[in-house]
Amino acid sequence: MQMKRKTQPSSEHTEQVERVIVRPNGPLEGEVAIGGAKNSVLKLMAATTLAEGRHVLHNVPRISDVGWMGELLEAMGARVEWVGPHDLAIETPEDLVPEAPYELVEKMRASIVVLGPLLARFGRARVALPGGDDFGPRPVDMHLRALESLGATIDFAHGYIEARARRLRGQRIVFEFPSVGATENALMAAVLAEGRTEIDNAAREPEIADLVRFLNRMGAQVSGAGSSTLVIEGVDRLHSVEHTLIPDRIEAATFMVAVGIAGGEVTLQGARADHMDILIQKLGDMGMRISPSSEGIWVMATKQLKSVDIQTLPFPGLATDYKPFLVAALTVADGVSIVTENIFSGRFRYIDELVRMGADIRTESHHAVIRGRPMLSGAQVRAHDIRAGVAVALAGLKAEGETVVSDAFHIDRGYEDFVEKFKSLGADMDRK
Ligand code: EPU
Repeated sequence: MQMKRKTQPSSEHTEQVERVIVRPNGPLEGEVAIGGAKNSVLKLMAATTLAEGRHVLHNVPRISDVGWMGELLEAMGARVEWVGPHDLAIETPEDLVPEAPYELVEKMRASIVVLGPLLARFGRARVALPGGDDFGPRPVDMHLRALESLGATIDFAHGYIEARARRLRGQRIVFEFPSVGATENALMAAVLAEGRTEIDNAAREPEIADLVRFLNRMGAQVSGAGSSTLVIEGVDRLHSVEHTLIPDRIEAATFMVAVGIAGGEVTLQGARADHMDILIQKLGDMGMRISPSSEGIWVMATKQLKSVDIQTLPFPGLATDYKPFLVAALTVADGVSIVTENIFSGRFRYIDELVRMGADIRTESHHAVIRGRPMLSGAQVRAHDIRAGVAVALAGLKAEGETVVSDAFHIDRGYEDFVEKFKSLGADMDRK
């Protein structure tokens, strides 16, 4: 993949935008196009390793993480190129080097999802062990246990996971928690295993249902997409396909919450309300009006938001990825809110940044108590990860003066044209 902004997502792109500057804003007005889902495309790209040939993905967002996954596939021997504004072609040769080096895994933990498909297709895979991150520890024990129950032998050496299996065999896998990544790894391994696999307590996220659609189009036999039991009848071979990604519900949530904070009326083109039921209910409780429209989702906010209690849960519960945006909104809502994080123990780090902006938040274990105020105070803050960076930028929409978000390259990992899209809605936002 060549490294050119607008034509190629790239690692260099991450260096280009260092700071996002936000001033008080509102109302936001107009339409914004929601791109394809980051957390779907990364897995579909991994799934292309399962079959030789030319795969074409449509509605692919031009974000840095797609660039990193492209680099990983190329490091294994695939060819990855943009063939349209949001169309990505991946040419998988008959042979790949089934290895994910540390330099790439370290940049993007999601690379771990190549483990299952590589093992299933080549009988071996070597993938760097991802470390922890700003969310706290990020173990992969469930991924490995699932692959072991399909017959893999797993060893660790020099910071790498080394998995081997002559041919995987279908099994019943029961997850102790519906992990998104572990479900995806087990699923992508099981499609080429011998016999029938049943995955119980599988994650039900829409991105997993998208992966199942993709795999079935490749010739896999998977049923139960979107439910907590996936049944997979293994097949001997898969073939290359074309596929259009589902919209990014987290990008859609970003703009919804932004309207809640700044006020206004916006249509989220291409967004799917049926992927965001609980968020829509919560934002309704906070005083927003949201409804599906023929174009996507229509969103309106006319007055200060009201406080509400929230807790994150696996899908269809409220996604942990929405939480930083909601916390930002609750800092300027009327009343006291209690927020409980049930997925990632450490996912509260951006709260210190919000406190620097004058937010009244107290944390205790995995809970946060937020006392809303009418307005925050713009400050220099840091993006610790994608969603944390977005949360402080959203808070800046209702903060006096200027909010300067540094390390904003994190935002570009998951958002295409973040600032430009906000500007198109009339927001006073810049990048430097
Ligand atoms: N977990 C384990 N062992 C495992 C796997 C997970 O203990 O083997 C724990 C995790 O530590 C965490 C919980 O299970 O406490 C849930 O983790 P999960 O595996 O579901 O998350 P993930 O696959 O690592 C994906 C998304 C995240 C999103 C989570 C939860 C991608 C690339 N990432 O991560 O998205 O927050 O699911 O929905 O799909 C983001 O987009 O910014 C992002 C972080």
